Amino acid sequence: MIIAIDGPSGAGKSTLSRQLAERLRYAYIDTGAMYRCVALAAHREGISPEDTTDLQALCDRIRIRFEPCEEGQRVYLNAEDVSRAIRTPENSMRTSRISAEPVVREAMVQQQRDMGKEGGVVLDGRDIGSVVFPHAEVKLFLTASAEERGRRRYDELRAKGQNVDLQTTIAEVESRDAADSSRSHSPLIQPEGAEVIDSTGMSIEEVLQSMLEAVGKAEAVQ
Ligand code: DC
Repeated sequence: MIIAIDGPSGAGKSTLSRQLAERLRYAYIDTGAMYRCVALAAHREGISPEDTTDLQALCDRIRIRFEPCEEGQRVYLNAEDVSRAIRTPENSMRTSRISAEPVVREAMVQQQRDMGKEGGVVLDGRDIGSVVFPHAEVKLFLTASAEERGRRRYDELRAKGQNVDLQTTIAEVESRDAADSSRSHSPLIQPEGAEVIDSTGMSIEEVLQSMLEAVGKAEAVQ
C-alpha cells in the first residue's frame, strides 16, 4: 500500500511516519527533507527562488538519498550527509520559500512518484494525499495546536544544542503554516478522504496506535 501522511510542521509527522514504516517494514520517504535539500543547495550556489531556469537545472542535477541509521535516517545531498545542515531555522525559512516554486514542486513530485510507485511506502509532507498520490490506500492528516507544535520544535532544536527561544520558535511555526497554507501551488490542505488525527496532548505511542488502526481498516478492504 501507499500511506500518505500530511499536516503542518511540528505535528510529529517525521517521527511517526518513520516509526509506522518501521512497524510495517515499509520504506519511508521524508519529502520535507527533499525540499530542504533543494533550499540548501540553492543557497550554497547563490541561486535565488526567482531564478527559475537555474533552479530547474539544480533540481535535475542534485541527487537526494535516504539511508537508514540508528537514530532514524540520514539524508544525503549528492555524497554529503546534510541531515543536520538542512534542519537549521535559516534553512527551514528558505525551504518554505523555495518549496512554493512550481519548478521545484514539479521536479520533487516526479521523484517522489518514482520512489513510491511500487508501494510498501510511507510518505510524509504537505501534498502527498492531495497531489503526489491522491489514490493512496491510506491518507492521514496529522495535526496539533500551534503552541504544542512550536514547543516540540523548540525541544527538538534545544536537544540538538541550538540556542533558540520558545516564543520565537512558536512564531516561526505559525509563520511557516501561513506560508505553506496560502501559497498558490499545492498549498497545505486536508486531502479529500483523509482521516484527521489531532495529536495535541497525545503520546507518540497513542498516535502510532491510531495510525495503525487506520492502516488496519484499509487492509481489511483490500
Ligand atoms: O516537513 P518539513 O518541516 O521538513 O518541511 C519543510 C518545508 O517544506 C515546509 O516549509 C513545507 C515544505 N514541504 C512542502 O511544501 N511539501 C512537502 N511535500 C513537504 C514539505
